[in-house]
Amino acid sequence: MATGTAKWIFPSFFPSLYGPSFHWFPHSLPLCPFFFPHHRFPFSNPSLSLSLSLFLSTGSRDSGSDLRSPPRAAAPLREASFPTQNPDPTTMIAIPYLTALTTYFSYGLLFAFGQFRDFFRKFFDWCSSNNLQGYAPICLGLEDFYIRRLYLRIQDCFGRPIASAPDAWFDVVERYSNDNNKTLKRTEKKSRCLNLGSYNYLGFAAADEYCTPRVVDSLKQYSPSTCSTRVDGGTTALHLELEECVAKFVGKPAAIVFGMGYVTNSAILPVLMGKGCLIISDSLNHNSIVNGARGSGAIIRVFQHNVPSHLEEVLREQIADGQPRTHRPWKKIMVIVEGIYSMEGELCKLPEIIAICKKYKAYTYLDEAHSIGAVGKSGRGVCELLGVDTADVDIMMGTFTKSFGSCGGYISGSKDLIQYLKYTCPAHLYATSISPPAAQQIISSIRVLLGEDGSNRGAQKLAQIRENSNFFRSELQKMGFEVLGDNDSPVMPIMLYNPAKIPAFSRECLKQNVAVVTVAFPATPLLLARARICISAAHSREDLIKALQVISKVGDLVGIKYFPAEPTKQQQGNKAMKYD
Ligand SMILES: Cc1ncc(COP(=O)(O)O)c(C=O)c1O
Repeated sequence: MATGTAKWIFPSFFPSLYGPSFHWFPHSLPLCPFFFPHHRFPFSNPSLSLSLSLFLSTGSRDSGSDLRSPPRAAAPLREASFPTQNPDPTTMIAIPYLTALTTYFSYGLLFAFGQFRDFFRKFFDWCSSNNLQGYAPICLGLEDFYIRRLYLRIQDCFGRPIASAPDAWFDVVERYSNDNNKTLKRTEKKSRCLNLGSYNYLGFAAADEYCTPRVVDSLKQYSPSTCSTRVDGGTTALHLELEECVAKFVGKPAAIVFGMGYVTNSAILPVLMGKGCLIISDSLNHNSIVNGARGSGAIIRVFQHNVPSHLEEVLREQIADGQPRTHRPWKKIMVIVEGIYSMEGELCKLPEIIAICKKYKAYTYLDEAHSIGAVGKSGRGVCELLGVDTADVDIMMGTFTKSFGSCGGYISGSKDLIQYLKYTCPAHLYATSISPPAAQQIISSIRVLLGEDGSNRGAQKLAQIRENSNFFRSELQKMGFEVLGDNDSPVMPIMLYNPAKIPAFSRECLKQNVAVVTVAFPATPLLLARARICISAAHSREDLIKALQVISKVGDLVGIKYFPAEPTKQQQGNKAMKYD
């Protein structure tokens, strides 16, 4: 028994040390849930996690916005409870004991082996004469270590090139490596894969009978670029039409558009907030918000992810304290949240958050990158879905890179606010305006959503994405996967935890022509690696069933069904769906 157990446990620690040629490891992984399937490990004192996180800290998607903020938060799991007194978000985490142990151990080993190899590397570098003498290393030490010793081993799972539109199925370019995954070379070969990774929520990213001809016409009329900023020659009739269209769609008096979603957050926040202002940010806000907030010079405080009671606690405390040192009242306070959290698939608790902001006279900034177009009866995002009046949200931000199959971002708000931004925002004054065909794509897709194309395709797409998302999520949960997020959200992370399971899951799925996105540190907290599935209205029921069959099989192989599976109806005596 003992040798048998060792045989199964031992390899599960090592796979990511060995890179892509290590094929047998997935078979060892089911052990983790096998031991203590329901025992969960509450990280009340996650010192090892924190020290590793600090060691590896390269700046993450989520916050940790300033030195005073609590450590990087983790996505709360289904059964997690949120202590209101303890702002340390890591206390929310509860993962299986053995999984936590093997995850720590795997990272520890990777770290130790990496250091060992670096020691010899330094020695040989020192012996070689072609070193730049007297210069500090140009790449930062810890980031460089993380990339060389951890990321490169599994880099084939990330940044996979594609050779077609990101539709329900797409062509993935095959690559190979001759140097243990350090460099990847493209081949001429492509494999047709089911796409579970793109943000193409409504299917507009592929050729569309209404949008595509109009986009092609706009390309001929206006060219791909205006070659100018908005205030010089970069405002076309399309840009003005787009701003009116977006304002009308999101339900605000006015809007301003930018060529990039990331820049929309990172350039607008420094315009609106500054010295003497307070930003209160959800602990899992996107990196564009974190960087925008940091760039503003405002003081940043973080509240526990999606916990309104903790937001209220932070607000009360900060209003009572006032500005640092002088204790003067804050010039203004802004609370920043997202509609759907892209790494968690959770809907924002917007009604409660709005009520608190109103009570304490704080402005609300809502980033709807993943929710606009994707949720709500007519695709108008979380406000429509959760019954919030858009007049109660002061600043509505969103991107066109998801549901609309285009690029760029918008800010929508009062006429005065938008006019002020047009006079002051550097991304409007100094950056080339959004590409005209991209603008036309957004206008056309919004028209389809509103039924202004003369069809009901928009309504059908919205019904389809909702049905697809809820079907897929509930089937994954029935199989025993740990799936984060809420119903109606097309984003559904499947928890992997152990670093060995990241390449195992990704490669095994790809072998069966299912392309998934895996996400790990620094985009998530160290322990909480996951696969993030994005569902599209373009997926048919057959596509989803194929995906479920493959994920179920690979899930068994890799050992990520952390919950007991629900008995299928078949097992209960009825005729029903079965995936394995
Ligand atoms: C919440 C959020 N805001 C902003 C962005 C940046 O948008 P874009 O990718 O369009 O630049 C993203 C990107 O995914 C996001 O998830």
